[in-house]
Parts: sequence; C-alpha cells; structure tokens
Amino acid sequence: MDTSIPVLTIDGPSGSGKGTISRIVASRLGWHYLDSGALYRVVGYAAGRDGADVSDATAMAALAARTAVRFVTAGDAEPRVLVDGVDATDAIRTESAGAAASVVAAMPAVRQALLDKQCAFRQRPGLVADGRDMGTVVFPDAGCKVFLTASADQRAQRRHKQLKEKGLSVNIDDLLREILARDARDAERAVSPLKPADDAVLIDTTDVPVERVVARVLALLPDHIRG
Ligand code: DC
Repeated sequence: MDTSIPVLTIDGPSGSGKGTISRIVASRLGWHYLDSGALYRVVGYAAGRDGADVSDATAMAALAARTAVRFVTAGDAEPRVLVDGVDATDAIRTESAGAAASVVAAMPAVRQALLDKQCAFRQRPGLVADGRDMGTVVFPDAGCKVFLTASADQRAQRRHKQLKEKGLSVNIDDLLREILARDARDAERAVSPLKPADDAVLIDTTDVPVERVVARVLALLPDHIRG
C-alpha cells in the first residue's frame, strides 16, 4: 500500500450519516470512495445466495476472499455494487443482509480476508474510507480521521426514510431495536470494535444539515488538498 496517498477516514455507527457525507466529500475532492460496510454486506448476501452457513467462520472467510466485488460510482449517488458480475445494490441493503453482515463482521478471519481488498482502494489522488474501523485498523496512518455520531432515534428515522425511498416498509420501533442491537454487537465484539480512533475528530450530526457536516469535514483537511 502506497502510504503517500492521502486518506480521510469517516467512521461511525449505522445511520450517523457516514455514507451520505463520505460520498459528497469524495465527489467534491475528486477522490475515490470506499464503502467498507458494503463489503461485509456482500458477504452476508453471498451467504444467503449460496445457502451457506453464516455461523461457519472458515466458510465465510473463504466466501469473502473469493467473491468479486466491483463498485460503479456515479458522483454523489450511491454506487452500484456488482457481486460476481451481478448487480446486488438493493439486495445488500436489506435488513437481512445487514444482520448477516453484522454476524460475519465479528469473525477475525472474515475481517482479515477483506483487509487487502480495502487497502487496494487507496489510489491517487486520494481516498475517503467509510466504515467502523477505517481510522483504527485499516488506515491507522490516515492524515485526517472523523467519527460521526447521532442520536439512536434520529438514526432510526434516517434508516426508515432510506428504506421507504427504496419501497421497503419497516416499523420504526423495530428499526430502533435493530439499530441498538447492532450497535451493541459492533461495539462489544473483540475484533475491530466500533470506537473512535484516539486522533479522530468527533462530529455529532443530530439535527445538523448535511451541508454543514460536509463543510466541517472539508475544513479539517489541509489547504493544499481542499484547493
Ligand atoms: O455500514 P453498514 O450498515 O453498511 O455496515 C454493515 C455491517 O458491517 C455492520 O454491522 C458493521 C459492519 N462493518 C464493520 O464491521 N466494519 C466496517 N469497516 C464496516 C462495516
């Protein structure tokens, strides 16, 4: 990995605004964008597709290593995700793929199998990396690290809106329960738990408009990068 290529890491829990903020910032900078959560979701989705056992860490690590994932970016919009050549953009966003992703994400062998794939995104002119452990584990040398938070209620409302826009109807109380359960699993797991890097800047996005968060993140970058 070429460590002279600049990286901005944006970590945080589900619904904190990471995806939206990261895509806009990457597009403004003209940098590459890594949605690392999508890689874990792809493993969850591929397990369902193949009828594989998500509790079998060896099988899940092998699946993570052999599954080909390609992102097709389109400015600020969510990139299309091709899994073994098939468009699985919507399939990886279902709650069941998310729940399976959270299970496989707790397996050290799966995290190891996805590490090289994530490092390969570090390409010129720079990378915005979105996830849970971008600043702590995958790109610990990143020049700029952000950790986004938001109240659980607001995160549930954002997920609800996103799912509704995709034509999926989910009860908001169920979503809140699912978000709290997933937060606990992600924060309490032994490998790469969800926590801010010591040198990350914390930004609470509750009731803060997207454009204000984008401006705060861009302001953290050195002048020569912002242009
Ligand atoms: O951000 P997301 O909801 O798409 O992430 C899906 C799951 O993957 C979530 O349970 C946390 C996990 N994940 C992880 O463990 N490490 C990352 N860098 C990104 C996501």
